[in-house]
Amino acid sequence: MNVSRYFILAGAVYLIIGVCFGIYMASAAKYSFAPVHAHINLLGFTLMTVFGILYRVFPETGLSRLARIHFWLHLGGTVVMLTMLYLLFAGHIRNSAMFPIAPISEAAILLGIVLYAYNVLTNLK
Ligand code: HEM
Ligand code: HEM
Repeated sequence: MNVSRYFILAGAVYLIIGVCFGIYMASAAKYSFAPVHAHINLLGFTLMTVFGILYRVFPETGLSRLARIHFWLHLGGTVVMLTMLYLLFAGHIRNSAMFPIAPISEAAILLGIVLYAYNVLTNLK
């Protein structure tokens, strides 16, 4: 599995979704969706593209099993968290319904980032 390619591809998909969402938000004047839009673009596109580039530029980190686990934790975590965030801001679910799924997805993203940091610490030459 080419982790760098997967991260960059997933980031590109998030960018399309994030920009479409931004255009919808701007045209419908639904500015209250800004946090959803911001995190689709930042957690989805920006962060995934940065990880993809770093794992490519520093292959000793990208080839580690930690990078593969990081990818799945970040992808799974963001898909679940951003979906929950959208449902919350769209008024389909209440804040109380965010528990425990949203915190678990946030913990998955956090765990992925901790593995990334550990990978950099131990494998980056
Ligand atoms: C055509 C593309 C885009 C459109 C039409 C768009 C539109 C918007 C709109 C209407 C807002 C709300 C502004 C407000 O509440 O006053 C917003 C906020 C935001 N956008 Fe976009 N956006 C686009 C692309 C992007 C991209 C590519 C990124 C990041 C990579 C981004 C990051 C953000 C962030 C972080 C905020 C929240 C700013 C804040 O703290 O209020 N946007 N965008
Ligand atoms: C699991 C990860 C994250 C969680 C749980 C989280 C949570 C939050 C929360 C609760 C807010 C306040 C929203 C509001 O005012 O209604 C916020 C705002 C914001 N976060 Fe995050 N965040 C995360 C990751 C990130 C990352 C990685 C970035 C940047 C790379 C980021 C950038 C921002 C920005 C720009 C705003 C202001 C957006 C706006 O409301 O207009 N966040 N975040």
